[in-house]
Amino acid sequence: MSNKIQIFDTTLRDGEQVPGCQLATEEKINVARELEALGVDVIEAGFPISSPGDFLSVIGISRAVKDPVVCGLTRAKQEDIDVAAEALRYAKRGRIHTGIGASDVHIKHKFKSSREQVLEQGVWAVKYAKSKGFEVEFYAEDAGRADLAFLASMVEAVIAAGADVVNIPDTTGYCLPHLYQKRIEYLVENVSNIHKAVISVHCHNDLGMATANTIAGLIGGARQAEVTINGIGERAGNTSLEEVVMTVKTHKDLGLYTDIKTEKIYGISQLVSRMMRMPVQPNKAIVGKNAFSHSSGIHQDGFLKHAENYEIINPADVGVDCSSIVLTARSGRAALRHRLELLGHKVEGADLDHIYENFLIIADEKKNVTDNDLVVLVANTPVLAG
Ligand code: KIV
Ligand code: ZN
Repeated sequence: MSNKIQIFDTTLRDGEQVPGCQLATEEKINVARELEALGVDVIEAGFPISSPGDFLSVIGISRAVKDPVVCGLTRAKQEDIDVAAEALRYAKRGRIHTGIGASDVHIKHKFKSSREQVLEQGVWAVKYAKSKGFEVEFYAEDAGRADLAFLASMVEAVIAAGADVVNIPDTTGYCLPHLYQKRIEYLVENVSNIHKAVISVHCHNDLGMATANTIAGLIGGARQAEVTINGIGERAGNTSLEEVVMTVKTHKDLGLYTDIKTEKIYGISQLVSRMMRMPVQPNKAIVGKNAFSHSSGIHQDGFLKHAENYEIINPADVGVDCSSIVLTARSGRAALRHRLELLGHKVEGADLDHIYENFLIIADEKKNVTDNDLVVLVANTPVLAG
């Protein structure tokens, strides 16, 4: 089994389903070009039958990019697959992503059907999509809550029908990492033809486990991860691309790799946030405003002595200029001395003690002490100003 993890980006499909995040076709093409530059392997460009706009976007993206596979979502229905095939006809490499519910909850309450019937419909959909001449990925919706033996029989049947990729979504974000990993391992061990397909993981973040579950699934044997930029997506979101990619890069011990050009991560995160009018939370891993900023005295002192004391990722690796030291009432002398030095003032010993006392008075009044505040502070400290 190869150790390369295929990155399947669904920002423009699962991500774009978020209310208020809809993009116009030109904007989607713009994002798709940036995803191509980032190095993703698959772009899920939309759900072509869902609206004329999505149909046109899938055509536009198919024309605009050349390296990534372009994928269109369908239900296990003839009209969906026909429309997706039509939209994907300009793609250098197109993929139809079709599927149906696999959990008893979905089978009973969504499809009002039986295990036998959904399995049959899934197999039919894969064969029909395959007959259109595209790669086919099958999703077993709500696989995270499905009966394992039934899930295995469904996966085996759709691979026999021609599925190239089998997606095992934790649609409701229900799974725990060790149990999701066991699910994937069970499929690896119990589906006789599993070697003929790539296993894909697609996790939602309802319990905040999306990245942990995705990594667990990769450890269990999946080789494709379905992700979105900034983790945007239905409800609490999808797995975030940047978290998975940087986890794989940071934990060399996993023995896995991706082809993502990580130094482009911050730029595309900002682009998607701006275009989708979806601010990135400041403490968001990898791309949040505070991800590389240090504010407490103990951390600032340790960081200034040796960055690795408090940083496991070099900010330049994800396209962030540099780490920042934020001056607040929790900052210590080391950070103040460092910032004054950057402003051209070398201050030590008793002078530093003196200016630090005045600094704390300002810091208690203000949330952040800026360079301008320091310039005024220096000007009002006779021993330095003179
Ligand atoms: O979460 C999910 O199950 C999905 C499928 C349509 C792939 O998004
Ligand atoms: Zn999803």
